[in-house]
Amino acid sequence: MKNIDRPIGIFDSGIGGLTVASAIKKLLPNESFIYFGDTAHLPYGDKSPESIRHYSARIAAFLLEKKCKAVVIACNTASAHAFKTVQDICGPKIPVINVVDPVARYTADHYNNCKVGVIGTKGTIQTRIYVNRIEKLNPSLKVLSNATPLLAPMIEEGFFNNSISQTVIDSYLSKRTFSGIQALILGCTHYPLIKKEVESFYKKKIEIIDSAGVVANEVKNILTDSKLIQTQELEAKYSFFISDFTESFEKSTKTFFKEKIKLEEARIWD
Ligand code: DGL
Repeated sequence: MKNIDRPIGIFDSGIGGLTVASAIKKLLPNESFIYFGDTAHLPYGDKSPESIRHYSARIAAFLLEKKCKAVVIACNTASAHAFKTVQDICGPKIPVINVVDPVARYTADHYNNCKVGVIGTKGTIQTRIYVNRIEKLNPSLKVLSNATPLLAPMIEEGFFNNSISQTVIDSYLSKRTFSGIQALILGCTHYPLIKKEVESFYKKKIEIIDSAGVVANEVKNILTDSKLIQTQELEAKYSFFISDFTESFEKSTKTFFKEKIKLEEARIWD
């Protein structure tokens, strides 16, 4: 198989990364991909950095066994802890794209002399990865971050666009930390699903930045630069693996991917 015909590998702790996969499918309809959700170890948000590096290394090896031409870490927590680990496994010929750097660059390029907020899992926020990356790229910005650990499980259980989600979102965003921000980064794969609610909390006065579209653009640019982009109009193929199958995961996929998909179990930990 020619290099450009090989699939893109995309992985996340679970099914939240399907928001990124969906944006990639929309922007690059000729690209095939293989998605892996590590539902056996979900959530990554409160696991140790060592565990996340261990899981990410094994998943990257699985995607390489499937002959992927690039690997997208569609999980903020794994991007924060395991980017280098995954790059080491993939070697110089397989580009690795994380979800933090493209968003950090977008923010640093679009804003000046103001405060920007970030929300994400405990694991992502504790690393201060967004703060360090953005303030280094643009020292005129002040980045304020807060962990919002209830949001991912809440969304996964289908609680969004209702009074419960609105109460939880209001309570997190009302914190003084975020007063006066000009933009808020949704630093977690699940949060695109509450983007509208967050926008209405801020009465649409500030930009809510979600990673899916920005990351899809980055994938396009990197594949183009590495001459790995699919140049022909082909029928793309998609496979979706998870490490521990339950029907409830399969049901929830539609929420994140916007269409019904079939999940296969890959017991890569046995
Ligand atoms: N995928 C994770 C992230 O983007 C959220 C869910 C989890 O904690 O595993 O950080």
